[in-house]
Amino acid sequence: MINLKIIVGSRRPNRAADKVTPWVMNKVSERGSFEAELLDLRDWDLPLFQEHPGSLGDPSDPTYSEPIVKAWNHKIREAQAILIITPEYLHGMPGLLNNAMDNVFASFAFRNKPVAAVAYSTGIAGGARAIENLAHVALEAELILLRNTVIIPFVDHAFADDGTATNSMTDAAATVMLEDLEWWSNVLNTARQSGQLPPGSARLRALMAKSRT
Ligand SMILES: Cc1cc2nc3c(=O)[nH]c(=O)nc-3n(C[C@H](O)[C@H](O)[C@H](O)COP(=O)(O)O)c2cc1C
Repeated sequence: MINLKIIVGSRRPNRAADKVTPWVMNKVSERGSFEAELLDLRDWDLPLFQEHPGSLGDPSDPTYSEPIVKAWNHKIREAQAILIITPEYLHGMPGLLNNAMDNVFASFAFRNKPVAAVAYSTGIAGGARAIENLAHVALEAELILLRNTVIIPFVDHAFADDGTATNSMTDAAATVMLEDLEWWSNVLNTARQSGQLPPGSARLRALMAKSRT
């Protein structure tokens, strides 16, 4: 089974995320290949990013400014795959979610892992711009963002009372995305186990130090 962490990127009372998340969990469970854990940012009261060299301590297992940041980094490190559920706020992903990703700092815990995205909004854009924003952040975190995503416009009408999707395209998109997530998880898991290059920043520093001697 693939260790999947599902991150929920809204913490508002009465959030639409509470319609989307059970449907996503159901789709993941139907697929049968993931052992999923929900990381709801409502339950992860992370500080606004505040790390610096002094707060990190031992680089192989940083201390961080608060125990919850360390626990968050350990949680992400366990993951073999990530699935992000995000609304669109101001044509991007919520600051809350961006902050949670910033807090995966110094551990490189996202590195070389696949990330799938389910985005939604009350308007016609369906969170597409939140995913474009996520793509920029994922690149720097060295997460592999899957091309096939789920975009849910008019989220208030996207799910029936029994939790099923009202548009069959939503279900089909989830199937395609989870097929990709399974494939990429297996590929990248094998690749990580066969050995990873040190992070580029470390290699760059080493080369520059050598060039100065
Ligand atoms: C701060 C804020 C900014 C928003 N910006 C957008 C936007 O740029 N595009 C859009 O389609 N919807 C936007 N919306 C509407 C959200 O898509 C809608 O409120 C959705 O329910 C938010 O998800 P949540 O309830 O799970 O937090 C915005 C909502 C908020 C609260």
